[in-house]
Amino acid sequence: EQIEKGGFEHFMLKEIYEQPSAITDTYRGRLLVDEGVIRMAGIDDNLERFTNAKRIIIVACGTSWHAGLVAEYIFEDLARIPVEVEYASEFRYRNPVITSEDVVIAISQSGETADTMAAIKLAKEKGAFVFGVCNVVGSSISRETHAGAYTHAGPEIGVASTKAFTTQITVLTLIALKLAKAKGTISKTDFHMHLSELETIPQKIEVALLSNDHIKEVADKYKEARNCLYLGRGYNFPVALEGALKLKEISYIHAEGYPAAEMKHGPIALIDEDMPVVVIATRKGHYEKVVSNIQEIKSRQGKIIGIVTEGDTSVRDLADYVIEVPDTIESLTPLLTTIPLQLLSYHIAVMLGKNVDQPRNLAKSVTVE
Ligand code: G6P
Repeated sequence: EQIEKGGFEHFMLKEIYEQPSAITDTYRGRLLVDEGVIRMAGIDDNLERFTNAKRIIIVACGTSWHAGLVAEYIFEDLARIPVEVEYASEFRYRNPVITSEDVVIAISQSGETADTMAAIKLAKEKGAFVFGVCNVVGSSISRETHAGAYTHAGPEIGVASTKAFTTQITVLTLIALKLAKAKGTISKTDFHMHLSELETIPQKIEVALLSNDHIKEVADKYKEARNCLYLGRGYNFPVALEGALKLKEISYIHAEGYPAAEMKHGPIALIDEDMPVVVIATRKGHYEKVVSNIQEIKSRQGKIIGIVTEGDTSVRDLADYVIEVPDTIESLTPLLTTIPLQLLSYHIAVMLGKNVDQPRNLAKSVTVE
């Protein structure tokens, strides 16, 4: 097992650090920047199903559901296709309206999640075209879907999902870009800009990982917290949800993710000097609005940990700590802002002496409903 961990103390840490290479593996052979082409057989062979789709319904559970939420923003933004993101366990039991003009995308790391599988079967019965985004090759979900794209993240052992999440977002971004191009909803220049920016993401994640020691200090400062709030807007709202889930899963600290502006409708009542609030405040994406949300937290003595773009000064002046990530285009910020949140929960859990790779009551793949 020590050999499998490749010198890392836990699988989770190893998998966090594998993200640059995992994402490179995800887009290898698909993202052809010089040619200005995205090649994905599962989409190419079924292009009309996608371009004619009245809407896309994404079904998933857990972290994969969060990747689906990020995809909702990307698909609607770039390809102008309406998207609904559903918990597979809710979708399957609520007699959903599905037609043969719908495309259902099922996202699953393991490809074995029982609720996601049941949702797929239901969608197929109703005539929808079902596309899978799985990591495990040959898994049940990858066999049950009409077509699909693998994430190629390599085996993920840690129960808390890390590289599966960022590679799912990568695949979904490639699909959205491909559809945007096919539908003519993106300009040539914008398309090329997205391709070349996506290609630089692994390198930028390497840079984000350099904050590890600083993140350890932040973890040490807040490891005794009983509650923690995560806020983000737009593309980074799902990242806030995922950050909170990571902390809950492995450190057992109660954490909630919220859209930053929604804070005033409830969570703001919880803010006092004992409440750390992690705010994703990158320069691209509602920056000024998020800064004013930070001011609201500060005036209530909340402790602020800002996830900011390199060189940021405004949030630094307000926050107790800032953690920097490199700059990128808005749609790709989740691939970078997720990294410090993974490391923060990892270090807190280690400091609290928790079983990081196998947290209590949780399973890597949930094959029962
Ligand atoms: C479990 C795992 C999570 C995962 C979820 C969905 O709860 O602990 O990490 O996100 O199942 O799993 P899937 O394999 O379908 O992505």
